[in-house]
Amino acid sequence: MDASWLRGRRIMISGGAGFLGSHLAERLLGLGAEVVAVDNLSTGRIENVEHLMGRPGFRFVEADAAEVDASGYDYLVHGASIPSPDDYLRRPVETALSNALGLLNFLRSGRRVLYMSSSEVYGDPQVVPTPESYWGNVNPFGPRSPYDEGKRFGEALCYAFSAERGVSVRIARIHNTYGPRMDASGRYARAIPRFIMQALRGEPITVYGDGSQTRSFTYVDDMVEGLVRLMLSDHGGPVNLGSEEEVTILELARTIRELAGSSSEIKFLPPFPDDPRRRRPDISLARRVLGWEPRIPLREGLRATIEWFRGAVG
Ligand SMILES: NC(=O)c1ccc[n+]([C@@H]2O[C@H](COP(=O)([O-])OP(=O)(O)OC[C@H]3O[C@@H](n4cnc5c(N)ncnc54)[C@H](O)[C@@H]3O)[C@@H](O)[C@H]2O)c1
Repeated sequence: MDASWLRGRRIMISGGAGFLGSHLAERLLGLGAEVVAVDNLSTGRIENVEHLMGRPGFRFVEADAAEVDASGYDYLVHGASIPSPDDYLRRPVETALSNALGLLNFLRSGRRVLYMSSSEVYGDPQVVPTPESYWGNVNPFGPRSPYDEGKRFGEALCYAFSAERGVSVRIARIHNTYGPRMDASGRYARAIPRFIMQALRGEPITVYGDGSQTRSFTYVDDMVEGLVRLMLSDHGGPVNLGSEEEVTILELARTIRELAGSSSEIKFLPPFPDDPRRRRPDISLARRVLGWEPRIPLREGLRATIEWFRGAVG
């Protein structure tokens, strides 16, 4: 299918008032789709979609993804979950269930589903760059497990509904993505928004552990492009979407401090439990089946994100 297929299609996005959901909604509207964004606003914000309200083809529904009526759509995109450590440490039960129950509701409708899975299905990988064929190294009983195992169970649900009921599923193993509208609140907010806000406020930049752990960050516009391509592809198995540009968290903190023109000190705090040492996807499959790879270099994406946060801080 090419992007013209999306014109006039009805698409529901759960987690639609979140960071990725709101950016994807915007892109799909731009491609002519009608978008219903469903969100219970547990971590998302109505401000993320305010600019879309009143735009033809867009509707926001405040509801739980597990309870919304998902019948009659051409595509269901499941992004609802509790992905930020601050939230999932506080609400592990909701974290363990929110991802799976909303996904179950969508899969039961029998319509096409795109599932926003995560690089966290790999846990602390022993194979890096990590291909889709790697099964993961995940602690099933610990502070990260409600999120990590929840994401893994989601993939198993996709497999089950596709194998037994022929439901058409697409699975994006999303790696760390950043950009405007990310939630920066909380002690353990995701690294990029946290570092940016700390740098802009002149507060200490808090690094958990010694900062030698690595991540590969993708700018949100690139990620949305990958998600749309995956929606339109006929590839039913999991696909890594992420950047191959691997940086240590300490390098990231220094780069953000420099780009923000900040003189914040870098403060080291005890490591987060079960924090993966390295994170870098093998994206050969995405290149082959989607013709996709990230285009926006880290420094460029960081500059745009810092500018957005500067405006948001006022
Ligand atoms: N951003 C990343 O780096 C990243 C990486 C890997 C995977 N993901 C996945 O992508 C998806 C979107 O993540 P994000 O970064 O935009 O996070 P986000 O927190 O901004 O978005 C998640 C949204 O889901 C909503 N939500 C939670 N429980 C819900 C429920 N029961 N019913 C309806 N809405 C509910 C939240 O209010 C929020 O708006 C998530 O599933 C996440 O696990 C994100």
